[in-house]
Amino acid sequence: MTQQEFPALAAALRARLRSRQARTGVVGLGYVGLPLAVELGKGGFTAVGIDLDERKVEAIAAGTSYIPDVPSADVAALVQAGKLSATTDFACVAELDTINICVPTPLRKTKDPDLSYIVAATERIAEHLKPGTLVILESTTYPGTTDEVVQPILERGGLKAGVDFFLAFSPERVDPGNPTFTTRNVPKVVGGLTPVCSALSADLYGAAIETIVPVSSTRVAEMVKLLENTFRAVNIGLVNELALMCDRLGIDVWEVVTAAATKPFGFMPFYPGPGLGGHCIPIDPFYLSWKVRQTGFEPRFIELAGHINGNMPHYVVDKIADALNSRKKAINGSQVLVAGIAYKRDIDDMRESPALDIMSLLHQKGARVSFADPWVPHLDGHEWQGGADLAAVELTTEALRAADCVVIITDHKAFDYAQILREADVIVDTRNAIKGSFPNVFKLGAAKLVPDLEPAAR
Ligand SMILES: NC(=O)c1ccc[n+]([C@@H]2O[C@H](COP(=O)([O-])OP(=O)(O)OC[C@H]3O[C@@H](n4cnc5c(N)ncnc54)[C@H](O)[C@@H]3O)[C@@H](O)[C@H]2O)c1
Repeated sequence: MTQQEFPALAAALRARLRSRQARTGVVGLGYVGLPLAVELGKGGFTAVGIDLDERKVEAIAAGTSYIPDVPSADVAALVQAGKLSATTDFACVAELDTINICVPTPLRKTKDPDLSYIVAATERIAEHLKPGTLVILESTTYPGTTDEVVQPILERGGLKAGVDFFLAFSPERVDPGNPTFTTRNVPKVVGGLTPVCSALSADLYGAAIETIVPVSSTRVAEMVKLLENTFRAVNIGLVNELALMCDRLGIDVWEVVTAAATKPFGFMPFYPGPGLGGHCIPIDPFYLSWKVRQTGFEPRFIELAGHINGNMPHYVVDKIADALNSRKKAINGSQVLVAGIAYKRDIDDMRESPALDIMSLLHQKGARVSFADPWVPHLDGHEWQGGADLAAVELTTEALRAADCVVIITDHKAFDYAQILREADVIVDTRNAIKGSFPNVFKLGAAKLVPDLEPAAR
């Protein structure tokens, strides 16, 4: 698209973006929004974060980060240089050239999309929207959200999308805890409402992100994210079902996947686990199935994967029962120590973590449940169905010896697996964190035909 084809408002914004004079805004300063605001600041823009959570706004003002992947030093340097600030007040929208929306998109209890955060944030933006602003939705959502939900709200004041202001969708692909792929070097897919909207979005992201991947519409961009996450959910469902089969057949699923992964083409390894967790994989596919059902289409892979993955916590509890059974013990009354409750390794995020389901199931069956997690110091009573506030315990020799069963749910690098193997009486390992085969280690996806073990010699 040539400069001549750009209408005046768009040309003015392009000039401000290319000269880095644009004032950028990010609504929702969580796992997605804070890294983005920091990258925009580092890219040379002035970045303003807007969040309802005063603690986050105060933390940024104090130059501290509350997201493990974002160093406090980066926040402090940008705040000091006047490149990054945060506020709870949407009035600043009137001063901004671009706004990225990064608010949560959870599911309701019925597994229907909950767009209330997007709607609330967009309504507040609409109150202050000025001509020439670029608005980009980043929250993961079903195809059609940008043009069916966000656009009409933003147009309430009389401005027209694609003409008076610019609108796009760009999915966030951040992988918390991944030191190799960060906001900066993960390619950014962008779909604008019009070609001008796409081009302006590419100008914005191009300053902060290495590779931009333009697509033809907001709906394609929305669907890209759902393909990526549905791909993961379905493949994890497949390998989880394979784990259940291996258990029945007396085969070690970990050995199978590791050997299959040596095929240099046509295979990509996925690993079984205690269930899905986090804000994306357990949730996003249901945004797609909800939307497509409205056309009368029944999305079978998503439902099947959801069913298999959703039942993994029950299978883990069966494994714990097997492990205790080998000691002639019942779950009822046993002390079960859960190692790792974050939804994946080396992060502090417990949203949708299968550990919470497993702990609740154990509690319902009468177990005395405790947990260790270097990333999660405290578990509030309302976060799991056990009801009691729990403080993380240290994985000391005493704590390991005191447990009737130690269950590895999250394989944090900080855990000393040799110590766990040495000190715990029986262990259920849902992540293959303990390599090899040991009489007192019960692995997910590997049958153990040892009904009555002698207590481990210490
Ligand atoms: N966390 C991830 O790994 C990840 C990866 C890719 C995509 N996403 C998607 O990105 C979106 C955001 O996820 P997240 O993990 O950053 O969520 P988060 O909960 O960490 O952060 C969301 C932030 O939005 C704020 N907020 C909520 N309502 C608001 C409103 N009306 N106005 C202003 N601020 C508001 C919250 O206070 C919170 O700070 C979701 O759609 C999610 O699916 C997340």
